[in-house]
Amino acid sequence: MLSTRVIPVDPSDPAREVIGEAAALIRDGQLVAFPTETVYGLGANALDAQAVGRIYEAKGRPATDPVIVHVQSPDQVREVAARVTDLALALIDAFWPGPLTLVLPRGPRIPPNVSAGLSTVAVRMPAHPVALALIRASGVPIAAPSANRFAHSSPTTAQHVLDDLAGRLALILDGGPTSVGVESTIVDLSGDLPRLLRPGGVPLESIAQIAPDVEVVACYALPGEGPTIAPGMLLKHYSPRAELRLFDGPDASLCRALADAVVELRSAGRSVGLLVADEDRESLSPPGVPLVSLGSLADLEQIARNLFAGLRELDARGVDVILARAYPPSGIGLAIRDRLLRAAEGRITHVRA
Ligand code: TXA
Ligand code: MG
Repeated sequence: MLSTRVIPVDPSDPAREVIGEAAALIRDGQLVAFPTETVYGLGANALDAQAVGRIYEAKGRPATDPVIVHVQSPDQVREVAARVTDLALALIDAFWPGPLTLVLPRGPRIPPNVSAGLSTVAVRMPAHPVALALIRASGVPIAAPSANRFAHSSPTTAQHVLDDLAGRLALILDGGPTSVGVESTIVDLSGDLPRLLRPGGVPLESIAQIAPDVEVVACYALPGEGPTIAPGMLLKHYSPRAELRLFDGPDASLCRALADAVVELRSAGRSVGLLVADEDRESLSPPGVPLVSLGSLADLEQIARNLFAGLRELDARGVDVILARAYPPSGIGLAIRDRLLRAAEGRITHVRA
C-alpha cells in the first residue's frame, strides 16, 4: 500500500512546484492521477513498460484492454504513432486539444503493453491545462485510462479517484470536477475506413463533417459475442454497484413506467433509487425514494457532466436497484446513452406511448 497524496491545483494557473513534483513521479515510473476535460486519468510514463504495467495492476484491469496515450501538442503524435494519415491530421486540426482519441499504427517507442499487444495505439491531446502542464513537464507522453477500478463508473472528481484507488497510486492532482463528464470519442483510423469505436465528448455528427464515411461499428457487443474491437465496448462497463435498469420512451409513459417499477420492486423488498432529469421530477417523486436529477433534458452537456457522479451518489445511498431514464442519441446524447446502456448491461425497457 502506498499513501496516496491529494494536492489541489488551480486549473487557471497550475503551480509549477506541484506540477514539477508530479512530473518527477511520472519519470520515476510511478502513477499519478490527473484531471482532463473528460474524466480523471491514471497516468504513467507511456515509454516505460513497467510503469504501464502498474496501471493495469492498480485498476485490476485485464491485460487485454489497451490504454490511451496522452500528448501535449499535435506534433507529439509522431512520437507515439508510426504513421499519421491525412484524415488523422484533419481530425487533429479540428478537434485537438479536446475529447477525441485516434487509433493509429503504433510507433516503435511505445511498449506493447500500452496497446494490449495490438499493432495500433490510441492517442489524444486533452484540453485541460493541468493535464497539458503535466505531460509537458514530464517530457514523455503519458498513458492513462480512466482512474477508476476496472468496469466501475469513471471518476469526474479527485474524491471519486480516491474512493476507488486510495493506496494504489502516489498522487492525485485535484483540479476540481471535470467539465465534459464522459470520456473521449474514439475513432479508429488504422483500417480502410474510419470507425467510431466509442461515442464520447466530440459528437459523431461533428466527426462525420470531416470524415463522412465514418462507420459506426456494432456497439453494445456482449462479452464473448460479436466484434470486440475495442475492449471498452464490452457491455458490462461503467457499472455502479447497484443493478441499473434503463427505460426509454415518450416522457409521460416513461415516468409512469418508472413509477410502476418503483412500486413493484419495493413490494418485492428491494430498495430503489431514481436517476432522472429535472423535467421528470414534477410527475415523479415517490416519497422515501432517493432521487438524483442529472439536469435539464434541454441541456445534454449538463446531463453528461453529472452522469457518473449521479451513479456514484445513488450507489453511496446503498440502493439495490437504480432506475434510470434514457436520453436521445443526438450530439453528446449518444455517449450518455452508450454509458447508461453498458452500466445497465443492456437491460433496457422500451415503453410505448
Ligand atoms: O476521455 C478519455 O478517453 C479518458 C481520459 C483519461 O483521457 N480515458 C479513457 O481511457 O477513457 P479508458 O482506458 O477508460 O478507455 C480506453 C479505451 C479502451 O477501453 C479501449 O476501448 C480503447 O480505449 N483503446 C485503447 N487503445 C486502443 C487500441 N489500440 N485500439 C482500439 N481501442 C483502443
Ligand atoms: Mg475507462
